[in-house]
Amino acid sequence: MALVKSTLSVAGGSEGPSPITLLRDLSLASAVPAALRTVLRIRLADEIGDTPVPIDQLAKGLDVDAAVLERLLRNLRSYGVFEETAGGIAHTPTSRLLREDDPHSLRNWVLWVTEPWVWELWPDLEEAVRTGRGHFDERYGAPFFTHLHREWQESTEVFNRSQTELSRITSDAIAESLDLSGVKTFADVGGGRGYTLSTILEHHPHLHGTLVDLPAAVANPDPRLRADGALAGRSRVVAGSCLEEIPVEADVYQFKSILEWDDELTVTALRNAVRAGRPGSRVLVITNLVDDSPEIRYATGIDLLFLLNTNGRRHTRAGVSALVERAGLRLEGVTAVHPLLHVVETTIPG
Ligand SMILES: C[S@@+](CC[C@H](N)C(=O)[O-])C[C@H]1O[C@@H](n2cnc3c(N)ncnc32)[C@H](O)[C@@H]1O
Repeated sequence: MALVKSTLSVAGGSEGPSPITLLRDLSLASAVPAALRTVLRIRLADEIGDTPVPIDQLAKGLDVDAAVLERLLRNLRSYGVFEETAGGIAHTPTSRLLREDDPHSLRNWVLWVTEPWVWELWPDLEEAVRTGRGHFDERYGAPFFTHLHREWQESTEVFNRSQTELSRITSDAIAESLDLSGVKTFADVGGGRGYTLSTILEHHPHLHGTLVDLPAAVANPDPRLRADGALAGRSRVVAGSCLEEIPVEADVYQFKSILEWDDELTVTALRNAVRAGRPGSRVLVITNLVDDSPEIRYATGIDLLFLLNTNGRRHTRAGVSALVERAGLRLEGVTAVHPLLHVVETTIPG
């Protein structure tokens, strides 16, 4: 007869984890981005296709330790990233997004938010909450984008690719939501490599577009915008800082996912659009509103990261409305165009 009898019920409660379990899990959740980053760095996801692969074979092919790989994957599997089958490790819909060739790949986005400097920044949250602002400039001696482009070139490349990955998810929805029938010229300010602008130009064949971004972003534009690209005849690529000047006269200026830095910079950039445009020109701020987002953990997490890197924020509806008005723009409305994006539509007044 056994000396020890189990008093545990292994069946999970339908009401979810207990507060103790939840808090313990949350406190160790940083294991997850660490494991995801490792998977990407060793290129594990790319090794698994439509059929499962035994762990020993994976470890051998990648030249990594099979036992540690198994432990790492055990953690990720508990979140639904990869699964174990009779034939070995297989993809789940979530782990498949880590493959570089997946049409919805988030490989670079995951690398971006798990960069070593991101791990260095998180402890600054305590100082930020005490002082009311981020301290990137003091820590690194320069504003975020200046430092990124000057000191972290590999990270810059990861960032630019990550923005294209995010744009792939949303740009059709943006292009379809815009009624540009009376519009001839469109400028995408801080448009990255121009994935969204290219999609908008494809959806609106009468339109001419200009991409404006910092030199490091436009050095390698979307293939469609290059001299030999399909949209070359209807597009221009301009290197410049919207904090100094926006050197384009256009009917519509778009700022997508850029005005989420320090509020003073946001007002400066918008005032430069007012200066560059004509009365009646439209200025669209496209952003993920933190108080109106179905993905509240994503929105609030990025909000905190922005606080620490650019002293920025994800805006509330009221907050972004106040900023556009401070810049001298007339607010026309705020419209949801994608679960993660709102368009704040404004006009340059007469
Ligand atoms: C979060 S990304 C968004 C990129 C793009 N709009 C998109 O949605 O994919 C912010 C962009 O702002 C650009 N940026 C930062 N400072 C800038 C400045 N002073 N002038 C113009 N662009 C700037 C960055 O290079 C980057 O491409």
